[in-house]
Amino acid sequence: MSTDELKKIPHFGAGIGLRLELAEDTLAHTKEINVVEIIAEHYFSSIEQGLTGILAAARAAYPVIPHGVDLSIASTVPIEKEYLQHADELMRALGAHYYSDHFALTRSGDELDIGHLSPVWFTKEMLENVVARVDHVQQTLGKPLVLENITCPFVIPGADFEEPEFISEVCRRTGCGLLLDVTNVFINAHNFKFDAQRMIERYPIDSLVHVHLAGGEMEDDVLIDTHSASIDGVNEGVWPLFEWVVTNADVKAVIIERDDDFKVSFDDTVLNDLRRIKSIWKKAKPEAEAFLH
Ligand SMILES: [Fe+2]
Repeated sequence: MSTDELKKIPHFGAGIGLRLELAEDTLAHTKEINVVEIIAEHYFSSIEQGLTGILAAARAAYPVIPHGVDLSIASTVPIEKEYLQHADELMRALGAHYYSDHFALTRSGDELDIGHLSPVWFTKEMLENVVARVDHVQQTLGKPLVLENITCPFVIPGADFEEPEFISEVCRRTGCGLLLDVTNVFINAHNFKFDAQRMIERYPIDSLVHVHLAGGEMEDDVLIDTHSASIDGVNEGVWPLFEWVVTNADVKAVIIERDDDFKVSFDDTVLNDLRRIKSIWKKAKPEAEAFLH
């Protein structure tokens, strides 16, 4: 797929991952939220009936971007036709411009399910495998695939590439997009003791489409990607990285991921971070005013 397809994607602005626990607040703040992201597989079984329930309500209020967690692009068994059919139906129903998932291994067919986003072994053989699978997904869906960097509990030794160079090669050869989770870079940099700014500059910025931000928690000097906190305190270092990204890339959507600790005020946490995203984005790119309300 040509990288020109990524340029055609509209600017969606800033929003949040739609979660049941936050649905009421999410649907009530149409003035502050520009876009929402859903976990795609949660809607696979119901999409044959079209948009129903919370998904219909979300689509009536916002553009909705599908984000899968179980494509498992690094597996070596063929991707099930049914899986891609569901993804295709969901994209059509939403009018989505791209489908996203992760540079990760989550399962091997239906037989073996790790139940977790596991790191990819960045070898030359794996590069060929991932390139072929990304091409297949993009041909089947007829839309760009946008893949995300994950946090790593460990790095698999004996690789031919480091993560940014592996991702750059996949993007260059397939025309797929990058979903840059800035918090994941920040967390990996802290836990593996490297410079986050230098690291972030190695990702393929020209292929960047979508950004994730979230707040993690520190335990014994290890940052954990809990998606449970505001982006402040131990997560404060995410902001200068985000500012660099939004200055240097043509970002189409920024999503706050919040998956835990829902009891705190929506305004003090999610909306506060959303305001900060918009302020940094508009300062970096004054033209963003047109799509950030
Ligand atoms: Fe993420």
